[in-house]
Amino acid sequence: MFPTVRMRRMRGNENLRRMVRENRLTIDDLIMPLFVCPGKNIKKEISSMPGNYHLSVDKLVEECKEIRDLGIPGVILFGIPASKSETGFDSWSDNGIIQKAIGAIKNEIQDLLIISDVCFCEYTSHGHCGVLKNGTVDNDATLINLAKQVVSHARAGVDMIAPSDMMDGRIGVIRDALDKSGFNQIPLMAYSVKYASAFYGPFREAADSTPQEGDRRGYQMDPPNSNEALREAELDMMEGADILMVKPALAYLDIIYRVKQEFSMPLAAYNVSGEFSMVKAAAAQGMINEEKVMMEILTSIKRAGADIILSYFAKDAAALLTKRET
Ligand code: PBG
Repeated sequence: MFPTVRMRRMRGNENLRRMVRENRLTIDDLIMPLFVCPGKNIKKEISSMPGNYHLSVDKLVEECKEIRDLGIPGVILFGIPASKSETGFDSWSDNGIIQKAIGAIKNEIQDLLIISDVCFCEYTSHGHCGVLKNGTVDNDATLINLAKQVVSHARAGVDMIAPSDMMDGRIGVIRDALDKSGFNQIPLMAYSVKYASAFYGPFREAADSTPQEGDRRGYQMDPPNSNEALREAELDMMEGADILMVKPALAYLDIIYRVKQEFSMPLAAYNVSGEFSMVKAAAAQGMINEEKVMMEILTSIKRAGADIILSYFAKDAAALLTKRET
């Protein structure tokens, strides 16, 4: 006890602190989300998410090279189709925006993991994550379209699939559809624990995917719930998910911790658009130090138990981590 024990002894010197540091963010942990749009030579900043862009396929390929050169292992792609429809059929067209993007990247870059977000909200005219019937999303009708969507992503050459729609039974249906089409080696990163969160605000502007009517509370999880997260995670594991995900990350660190303690599965966490834009906005006002807050947040997600972090900060964090090591 004090005065023999003094906790401050190990804090007084940076080299000592480095030696006893318990958690460390590395570039290997990061995945960068990207938005692809139709057209050519387009790189248009998303106003709600500074430093993030709507990229046409040619510019997307350039961006992916930069990300690969930073040492980031993977990107997750979101498609913004030329036109939206009631069912969102562009999402399963072999000539769809995502399919073109996957093909173009794969043609030029071999050493970057291409993950596709699988959902319908960016593709439907009503902005909901599936087939609308009587004002609600029809679960089982949506499963049929999900199977079509994943198989077309696989045909385009995707490396990993990340379903974010929150339909019941989707992981099993998707696994089965991929396996029957000869794609049993494509892993699934399931958005297992996805909350109906207001932190998705900037993304919905970026993807133009705000529901025209209603909200997503009928299929995404209720934020106050925690035991339910374990049930969702367990179901996805049983249905064949290879990686579980918790989303959002920052306001749900307790959920990340619980899921990691409970299941011996690789765990991803999505540091979502609102978490990113909040930091950017505060930093732009000179209220916080952007670099330090970014690293503190990403490290806290790691400390809570995430093995993988999807973040719009991935490029900035990777550049900073490289600078520190050299
Ligand atoms: C698609 C999807 C969303 C996000 C990822 N996939 C939006 C939503 O559910 O409304 C949000 C990502 C972010 O906010 O960064 N369903």
